[in-house]
Order: sequence, then structure tokens, then C-alpha cells
Amino acid sequence: MNKSMTQQYYKEINRLKKERNAIILAHYYQRPEVQDIADYVGDSFGLAQKAAESDADVIVFCGVHFMAESAAILAPSKKVLLPEEGAGCPMADMADAEDLVKLKKRNPDAVVVSYVNTTAAVKAESDYCCTSSNAVKIFNMIEVDKDIIFVPDKNLGDYAAKQANREVILWPGYCNTHDAVLAEDIIEIKNKYPDAKVVAHPECRPEVLEISDYVGSTAKMIRFISETDYKQYIVVTEMGLLHPLRKDNPEKELILASKKLVCPNMKLTTLSKLVKSLEDLTPVIKVDEETAKKARVALERMLKVI
Ligand code: 13P
Ligand code: SF4
Repeated sequence: MNKSMTQQYYKEINRLKKERNAIILAHYYQRPEVQDIADYVGDSFGLAQKAAESDADVIVFCGVHFMAESAAILAPSKKVLLPEEGAGCPMADMADAEDLVKLKKRNPDAVVVSYVNTTAAVKAESDYCCTSSNAVKIFNMIEVDKDIIFVPDKNLGDYAAKQANREVILWPGYCNTHDAVLAEDIIEIKNKYPDAKVVAHPECRPEVLEISDYVGSTAKMIRFISETDYKQYIVVTEMGLLHPLRKDNPEKELILASKKLVCPNMKLTTLSKLVKSLEDLTPVIKVDEETAKKARVALERMLKVI
């Protein structure tokens, strides 16, 4: 898109935002031009926090469905919009509430921790929610004699279980985007850039995390790269993160580990859909009150663990 068209969209978005008393929240995996017009860009944890404390009437969520659902649960009096209703998370769809209930029945004393990348119905069946930024801390809070069920990301679950030194019952879910990166891909790019530090998201495979220099949520990856002084970094997460990283670190070379690191759902939100959403105040994301009430308990526990 050319610059003048982008500026036209921005003008319209700013006008509508004022008129609607709206706030725009965007995940780091969004398109650069969407990140640049957002009031706040962040990781899943930061975005849930912002939604919970916002005093706007309308929250426009530039992200995927489970994020907007969490915002609707945490801010029940606000109108939450997801500009592209079809923007889902394939990993969240790998966990079904009915199957989780069956697993709970087989493990009646287990504590259920669900990744925020889940449906509201799965959250409603969980004791705690977590994001990739506080999963280890939440495992550490649970009494050592209790079993833990972690749903749905087997990679994050395995990583957090090893860090917390806990046995965890893992759901067989994964993120298509992060799980596609193989250890061979990292070895190949490391051969090309032998001095680069490898910075990875915990949704990657265990064998990728084992050969990485730093593992953390998107916000933690940003912090690590900004606060350390190496010349080159190999970034192993969705390509959208390169936008804030390159803006904040113009002197550092930031290399995407693999071309496979694209989440198609995160790219569905465009400036024109954002304008339409603010104009029509649709699509609204709603969660039925009974589910929301139960899911809110798990989400509010998540927000307390920083
Ligand atoms: P974080 O931003 O919490 O690291 O999450 C990554 C992700 O895959 C969101 O869908
Ligand atoms: Fe889901 Fe992975 Fe896309 Fe995040 S990057 S929304 S976990 S598919």
C-alpha cells in the first residue's frame, strides 16, 4: 500500500476512534501498518491487561479471536470488536471443552492450567489461565503434590514443566507457525550467522528451544534484544515481531529464522477492515455470561502473576 493511502486510512481511523471513544489494541504479529495506528501494541499478557483497565467504550482488537474473547470477558461493559471475524487461532481450536472435562474426570485432583490461546469454554473449565510470559511462575505456584493438566500447547507446556521441574499432563496441541520450525532450520541459519544469538518463543519445538540462547514471550524477546548488546539476533517467532524490533534497534541485525514464521490469521486484519469495523461497530465478540463468569476467575488469576 502506498504512503498516501495509508495516511488516508489513518486519518479516517483517528476520526472514527474519537467519535466512538474507542481504543485500538494490536498484537506484535499484526501487519506493520496496523501496529503503527494502534494505541497499544503488546504480547497476549499486556493486551489482556490493557483491555481489563481500559475506560474506552469500544475496544478494537487487532489480533485473533481468543484475544478478543478474553477482552470481552475482562471488560464486560465494553463493546469488543474483532475487525476480521474469521481471524482464529488453529492451536486454540485444538482443545475442546468437552474433551477437557473428560480428561479432568480421569484426573480428578489435577489443577488445570490453560494457555490464554484457548476458547472461553476451555477457560471456564480451568483453574488458571496463563500466557507464555507467566506459565513457569504459575506452575511454581501450584502445590508440589498436585498434578497439573496443561492445555493446549504441548511445546510451551513442556518448556514450562522443565523450567519449573514439574511433571505435567500435556494436551497434544501446538501452534502451526512455531511448530513448523525444525532444529535443522536453526542449525542451517546458525551456520550462516555463527555469531548471532538465537532468541525463540516457547511455542517452538523442545529441540529448537534447547539450541536457543534465550526463550521468552514476544514482549520478553523484545526486552532481551533491546537490553543486550550483540550485533546479530536470529528471531524464532512470527515475522510481525521484526517490525517493533527493527524500529527499536536500528543498529542491530535482526534475522528471521525461517520463512515459515508467518501466522496467516494474524495477517487477516487490514486497515480497510479496521475502518469498516469502527464505522459499523461490528463484528462484536460476545461471551455468554455463564461461561464468562467461570472463565473470568481463571483470567483474573493470570493477570495477578506478573
Ligand atoms: P505472546 O504474545 O504472549 O508471546 O503470544 C504469542 C502468540 O502466539 C499469540 O498468539
Ligand atoms: Fe495461534 Fe500460533 Fe497464530 Fe499465535 S501464532 S495466533 S498461537 S496460530
